[in-house]
Amino acid sequence: MNYQNILVENRNRIDFVTINRPDKLNAMNAQAKAELKQVFESIKNDSAVDVVILTGAGEKSFVAGTDIKELTELDCESGRAFSEGGQAVFTLIENLGKPVIAAVNGYALGGGAELALACHIRIASENAKFGQPEVNLGIIPGYGGTQRLARLVGKAKAMEMILTGDPIDAAEALRIGLVSKVVTQSELMKTAEEIAQKILSKGQIAIKMAIQAVNATQEKSLTDGQAVEARLFGECCATEDFKEGTRAFLEKRKAVFNNK
Ligand code: COA
Repeated sequence: MNYQNILVENRNRIDFVTINRPDKLNAMNAQAKAELKQVFESIKNDSAVDVVILTGAGEKSFVAGTDIKELTELDCESGRAFSEGGQAVFTLIENLGKPVIAAVNGYALGGGAELALACHIRIASENAKFGQPEVNLGIIPGYGGTQRLARLVGKAKAMEMILTGDPIDAAEALRIGLVSKVVTQSELMKTAEEIAQKILSKGQIAIKMAIQAVNATQEKSLTDGQAVEARLFGECCATEDFKEGTRAFLEKRKAVFNNK
């Protein structure tokens, strides 16, 4: 199938998906977003595809965000629908049941950063820049970024990135665990393909289950998470180690735990 804003090529059970609006730094307009949904729906049901590599056309940008031109007319209701529509596409990617590797080849800003966040593995070229600059436009990240970024790099760094809107470079993205590898631009696709080949050499049922299991760690709400925390805290309070630990502190001596 031919798309206007996306290129898809299949080689050796890998689909190479390229967002292709290089003159706009691959900013995602409504049509590109709709096409992205179609592409991933089709990949989900395509038994000839086991791994996806997602990148942007050109050497400057992965995706420089949602197309800002299309944001200007949004109001409360349409803004919410706009956000939910984008969230649905990115959740489709996260729950694809097949690994999606983001090969981030330049700017990954706003919706571009959020797109990368929805992928299972992120690698970047040295010139990559990640950022959530939405506050500069008077909005917040709306395609899952407030949720996925905090889960991935921790609340402190996510807050800093989202509240300042400042982008970070590839080295910083690697340092905070936002990407797992940084390579030269010329090595980027080769490296992504090597990772894809390695995954292809495994049992694909296990790969699918592994994605599901790791994704499940993100499913708990703060309320559910705190309920688990309270239950385990109570269980700790019932142990001999707890009694010994607190007693030792009060008696100003080193605790001797017997793991009971
Ligand atoms: N939406 C719409 N168009 C965009 C865009 C976006 N998110 N990002 C880039 N473009 C367009 C520019 O308007 C420009 O189009 P033009 O040639 O018709 O004027 C073209 O892409 C090239 O961008 P330009 O700004 O000239 O490149 P640059 O190298 O000077 O700057 C960026 C690159 C990424 C720093 C800058 O384009 C930018 O800040 N983009 C917006 C990023 C953003 O806020 N994203 C989040 C949106 S929610």
